[in-house]
Amino acid sequence: MDFKDSTPDALATDLDPARQADGATRNMDALIIKGGRKLAGRVEISGAKNAALPLMAATLLAPGVHTLRNVPLLSDTRTMAKVLEILGARVEFRGHTCKIDTSTITSLEAPYDLVRTMRASIYVLGPLLARFGAARVSLPGGCAWGPRPVNLHLEGLGAMNAALDIEHGYIVGKDVKLKGTTFRFEVVSVGATAQLMMAATLAEGTTVLENVAFEPDITELGADLVQCGARIEGLGSRRLVIHGVRELKPLDTSIIPDRIEAATFLGAAAITGGSITIERCDSGHVAAVVHKLEEAGCDVLPGNREVTITGPARLGAVDVVTEPYPGFPTDMQAQMMALCSVADGRSTITDTIYQDRFTHVPELARLGCDIRLDGNVAVVTGVPHLQGAQVMATDIRASAALVLAALAAEGETRISRIYHLDRGYEALDQKLQQLGADVERIRE
Ligand code: EPZ
Repeated sequence: MDFKDSTPDALATDLDPARQADGATRNMDALIIKGGRKLAGRVEISGAKNAALPLMAATLLAPGVHTLRNVPLLSDTRTMAKVLEILGARVEFRGHTCKIDTSTITSLEAPYDLVRTMRASIYVLGPLLARFGAARVSLPGGCAWGPRPVNLHLEGLGAMNAALDIEHGYIVGKDVKLKGTTFRFEVVSVGATAQLMMAATLAEGTTVLENVAFEPDITELGADLVQCGARIEGLGSRRLVIHGVRELKPLDTSIIPDRIEAATFLGAAAITGGSITIERCDSGHVAAVVHKLEEAGCDVLPGNREVTITGPARLGAVDVVTEPYPGFPTDMQAQMMALCSVADGRSTITDTIYQDRFTHVPELARLGCDIRLDGNVAVVTGVPHLQGAQVMATDIRASAALVLAALAAEGETRISRIYHLDRGYEALDQKLQQLGADVERIRE
């Protein structure tokens, strides 16, 4: 993916959903991995996808030129750029710096063909309603591992006086005047917290949000909005108080490191028995994962904006339960399952966030993993060796799990449909090569 050419045509070609949906040649790359090498060396972590996406949408809240630095070069940030361009914004990437000019918004519609390729496109809904009092945003639809409703987004905005209708698959709001309210989330939701926090910044009066998510991506979003003039209290807690203001200034910020990318590299070192240092990462953001890796026998040394990890000769079995931050992230569930597949003993992995996020299980089984599913619990019996095989990526984190398993497997593994990987990891293959892995990207 070449970000230098961020002209609309290039983006259009690149982001043509029909081409994306049927995995056009450009995205039909595959990875060939020859396993068995211990990783070694240093690797830099990119900016966080899940912080960049809401921040890009938040630029709609204030007219002007916004500057986002350390933006990861991913197909997902490309898609958000395309959504903003379709709304009339001008988006320009210079390396990892993204300039977004939202002075002239000419449309309030986020089309199905883009939203269906990336659920996070729904983040434009709150900012459009807050600034323009109207929006027409496609419902996202399902994802690889099942229904992912957006009822909390709609109920929360509804409680803020936004009468929203569903028309032909679109969420439609007209003549909306957002008003402050008190809203309690029945489940902790990263997306709905971001959505309502953004909307409430320009609402009339005060909004109190309870049982909110406080993933680093959310705290970052809130802190950046405060920098632009928003009045938000309680960041980093389960309760936010947002006093609406009349207007905001443009954003000027740098995206935090991607904690899931960092955790994935920690897993890569652990599963290969290697020793690496990951740079430009916040060790506090990966504490729950580090805790489990230490339990599995890894040596982990957190430093100033870096973490060094050394994997054991053989990992020990562990029990993992995913939870909202600061608990163990569901976005590391699949990768951790790959690690447990070669551990000495039986592990259990329980996903409390997504009951059915297990599309990676049958693919891992092709590599020789022994995994039994019982509802939202996976019982993983460690095996001494995995064997290379042909496997298929099904979503971002499932594909990362296949990469980790392949790094440990004997022989060659071929992972197809890695466009899923490119959605969430910047140049993963090159970074792994840098650490001594035998990885090759090929066109299928
Ligand atoms: C965010 O998704 C992340 N995506 C996901 O990462 C991550 O898995 C998820 O948070 C949980 O940590 C982005 O930040 C772009 P949620 P989101 O709303 O916001 C239920 C990755 O790999 N729910 O916190 O969609 C929902 O079904 C991606 O980078 C409702 O019921 O997740 C789930 O069970 C995958 N109604 C739970 O809440 C709603 O309206 C948490 O979902 C919203 C959510």
